[in-house]
Amino acid sequence: AERELQLVARRIRSFPDFPIPGVLFRDISPLLKDPDSFRASIRLLARHLQQAHGDGIDYIAGLDSRGFLFGPSLAQELGLGCVLIRKRGKLPGPTVSASYALEYGKAELEIQRDALEPGQKVVIVDDLLATGGTMRAACELLGQLQAEVLECVSLVELTSLKGREKLAPVPFFSLLQYE
Ligand code: PRP
Ligand code: MG
Repeated sequence: AERELQLVARRIRSFPDFPIPGVLFRDISPLLKDPDSFRASIRLLARHLQQAHGDGIDYIAGLDSRGFLFGPSLAQELGLGCVLIRKRGKLPGPTVSASYALEYGKAELEIQRDALEPGQKVVIVDDLLATGGTMRAACELLGQLQAEVLECVSLVELTSLKGREKLAPVPFFSLLQYE
């Protein structure tokens, strides 16, 4: 597991002052480019979720857009389906929505009303947790459908922004932590 984590850590690049001054951007492009590293990231997340929840998870929910890079693969690894949480205006049919403030900007998330049934147990996945605003809004959204969020996970966590605290009491797990 330590070796797998190294494979992941080595494939995340940092760019200062992107997309705005003062933000250190963590770039997952090299991770996606390298199959062994990508597979390691999916396996590590899957292993954690299996240990934490056994077969208690009904669905993985992927967050538009970088969470989509991991959601379906993680779901497959666990033998589960993936539901989509999208940015506003992308989903047809009846939807529910939740708005949130971003590290840079503001936005709204939506999910289709029939994506989940009341009581279904879901794990939300994204690439990165910064302020936690996005993940928090995703939790609210699933709450509107009366789904139960068992846990939120991401590859990268920016710990100094304390996003994890915003999600409590929902548990949060990340593979890699940066200040
Ligand atoms: C980034 C990242 C997370 C979110 C984290 O997404 O992929 O989803 O910001 O920030 P937060 O914890 O402060 O909410 P972004 O909205 O930039 O868009 P993208 O995923 O579509 O690239
Ligand atoms: Mg995102």
